[in-house]
Amino acid sequence: MNRFISQFGKPTGAFGRALGRIMTVSNRKMHRAVLQELGGVQRILEIGFGTGSQLEMISRSYSGAELFGIDISEDMLNTAMKRLTRKAKLSLCDCAKTDFQDGSFDAVITTDTCYFWQDSQKVLAEIRRITKPRGRLILAYNSMYADSVHKSAGTAMYSDETITREIERAGMKLLKKRRCGFRQTVFVIGI
Ligand SMILES: C[S@@+](CC[C@H](N)C(=O)[O-])C[C@H]1O[C@@H](n2cnc3c(N)ncnc32)[C@H](O)[C@@H]1O
Repeated sequence: MNRFISQFGKPTGAFGRALGRIMTVSNRKMHRAVLQELGGVQRILEIGFGTGSQLEMISRSYSGAELFGIDISEDMLNTAMKRLTRKAKLSLCDCAKTDFQDGSFDAVITTDTCYFWQDSQKVLAEIRRITKPRGRLILAYNSMYADSVHKSAGTAMYSDETITREIERAGMKLLKKRRCGFRQTVFVIGI
C-alpha cells in the first residue's frame, strides 16, 4: 500500500493526527447517517473509531447506550480517549480477531474502514460471531477513496458491488442501502 494511503489505514504521528482531524470533518455525513440507522440499540461497537468523533456523536444522542471501540492505531486510541474520557470503552485491537464474547453487541458500526481489511471474510466472520443473532452491522464507506485503496493494496471491499458480494459470501443479508453524500454510502446489514 502506498505510504499516503497507508496513513489513512493506520494514522500515525503528527501527520496521522492531522489526517484524523480531516476525517472527522469529511466523514461527518456518514457519521450522521450511521447514527440515524442505529434506532436506539443498547450495546454498540465501533471498528476503526479514528479520533472518536462518531462515538461522541452517538453518546450525545443515546445516553443509555454502552459504547465500545477498537482501532489498530495507538495515536488514534490516545486521541479518542482524550475526546471520550469515560463515554466509551476503547482498546487497541485488530477487527480480524477480537477478545469479545459471542453475541456481545446489538450493533457493530464501521465508517471509512472496510477497504483496509486484508481478509474481509475473516473480519465479517468475526463481526458475525460478536454480534447478537438479530443484530446489525452498519457499514459506511466512500467509494472514491475505496477505489484508491483497492488500486494500491488490492483489498476486496471497494465498490457497492464488491461489498454486497462479500456480505452475501459471509452469510449476511443486505437490509438497506442509502447514499449520504458524494460517493458515500451506508449499508445496513442483518447478521
Ligand atoms: C480512514 S480512518 C476512519 C476513522 C473514523 N472511522 C472516521 O470515520 O473518521 C480508518 C481507521 O480504521 C482503523 N483501522 C484500520 N484497519 C483496522 C483494523 N484491522 N482493525 C481496527 N481498526 C482498523 C485505522 O487505524 C483508522 O483509525
